[in-house]
Formats: sequence, C-alpha cells, structure tokens
Amino acid sequence: MTIALRNADVFAAEDLPLLCVRGLTRTYGTRIGCAEVDLDVWPGEVLAIVGESGSGKSTLLNCISARLEPTSGTVCYRMRDGEMRDLYRLQEAERRLLLRTDWGFVHQNPADGLRMTVSAGANVGERLMAVGDRHYGRIRETATDWLGRVEISADRIDDQPRAFSGGMRQRLQIARNLVTGPRLVFMDEPTGGLDVSVQARLLDLLRGLVNDLGLAVIIVTHDLAVARLLSHRMIVMKDGNVIEHGLTDRLLDDPQAPYTQLLVSSILQV
Ligand SMILES: Nc1ncnc2c1ncn2[C@@H]1O[C@H](COP(=O)(O)OP(=O)(O)OP(=O)(O)O)[C@@H](O)[C@H]1O
Ligand SMILES: [Mg+2]
Repeated sequence: MTIALRNADVFAAEDLPLLCVRGLTRTYGTRIGCAEVDLDVWPGEVLAIVGESGSGKSTLLNCISARLEPTSGTVCYRMRDGEMRDLYRLQEAERRLLLRTDWGFVHQNPADGLRMTVSAGANVGERLMAVGDRHYGRIRETATDWLGRVEISADRIDDQPRAFSGGMRQRLQIARNLVTGPRLVFMDEPTGGLDVSVQARLLDLLRGLVNDLGLAVIIVTHDLAVARLLSHRMIVMKDGNVIEHGLTDRLLDDPQAPYTQLLVSSILQV
C-alpha cells in the first residue's frame, strides 16, 4: 500500500513543472528589463530564450535563477522534497544551497563561473564538497571522470584554468556545474565567446550530456541555430516582452509574430 502511494507520488511529480514563473517584471529605474513574463519548465525540458541584444534575456535568466530580485512577480521551484517554493521567500542559506547543488549556472565568460587560480580538479571537487563529500580520493576520482566526460585529459587535472584555452575553460565550467547532478541548469550564451568550430563541438557535447542526464535547461542565446539544436521549446523576447513561444521546430518552421519571422529569415539569408 505504501509502495503504491509512493509510486503515485512519483508519477504525479513527473507531471508537474519544475519551475513556474508568473508576472515577472524587472525594471532598472524607468528602463524595462523584462515585463510580465509567464513561463513553466518541466523536468528534462530544454527551454531557449532568444531575442536581439537588449531584449531582456539575461535580466529574465538572472531573475529566475535567484541572482537578481524581480521588481514584481513570482518564481516558484519544486524542491527535491516535491514542495513548490517561492525562490524569493527562501532563506538566503537555502537559496545558496540550491545554487551550489540542485542548480547549475553556465556563464558566457568561463572566468565568471570558475576559480581561475585553483586547479581544474579543485574546480570540480569544490562542488562535490558543497554537497558534503569529504573523501579526497573519491572526489579526485569523480573529478577525473568528469574531466574525461568533457574531453579534458586526466593529465590536466592539476593545471589552473587560466592555462586552458577558451573552449577547455568552457568545458571545465560545464563539468563543475554538472558534477553534483543538478536538476536544472541555466546557461547564458554558453558558446558566445568561442570560434565557430569550437562552438560546434561544445554544442555537440552539451547536447549529449543534457540527453544522457535528462537535465532541464534554460538557455539564453541570440543564435537560433543553437536554439534549434538544443531546445524543445522557445520563447522569443523583444523590448522585455515575450512576443512568441512554442515548440522549437514549430516556431522556427512557422513563426507567427512578424519579429520572429524577421529573425528567422535573417539567419536563413546568411
Ligand atoms: N544593470 C543595469 N542597469 C540599467 N539597465 C540595465 C541593466 N542591466 C540591463 N539593463 C537594461 O535592461 C534591458 C535588457 O538588458 P539585458 O541585459 O537583459 O538584455 P539581453 O537580451 O541579455 O542583451 P544581450 O544579448 O546584449 O546580452 C536593456 O535595455 C538594458 O540596457
Ligand atoms: Mg545578455
């Protein structure tokens, strides 16, 4: 009887969103960052936020990842115990724990997401220690394993990321974020600063990891090709507003809003 009830709970949880955003607005003085945004993200789903520079993508991402307090609106997250909690009503310590464990945040600039003057192994191991792992040998083994998964050879484990190339740094940042088995990862232009061939490899790697781990991801990009490759669903922003949302394939093949039509046709012409 107990087991049956537990199973029912698990199934119910799968049907519920991981993140619910309602009426989210952030202003900077009189300037609008983002306005009245509603969105849901389900477990294992990849959502892309696209739009031109200044459209409010980073503002929105920072607000929904507890890094920037919204002016109004709510962001609720399903905690591991199944309870839906308003992020901005959590204790500061609870919020920090989420950021260090259940969530990942991949910055455009790897230097913002790494500690540049400690070793690659320590960058990955640090996140494990944040979830309570204290066994040095095991931490090093897991770090080595994760370096391998992001195609960094084990003999670089004691090097500092400042001795790495841009692509390697970004892969290290990804390993550092994924090692704790987060359920939700935020990414702001993760391939932004890289040259095209490095970008393509990184995207391939990301796609594999996201599929294998069943991660939910919210990814900001101005690049529709990145959205096409990685995401299931997209929202299109302009001047702080969501002007179109839908399944990625539908939205890119048959955009409805004139602005989205323009975005799509402009990349097709390149
Ligand atoms: N700290 C800030 N102070 C004042 N205005 C800001 C601040 N951050 C963002 N803005 C404004 O908010 C709006 C949205 O900016 P945001 O950085 O969210 O855009 P974005 O879509 O991420 O752009 P990009 O693609 O260039 O990164 C812009 O008008 C921007 O000038
Ligand atoms: Mg931005």
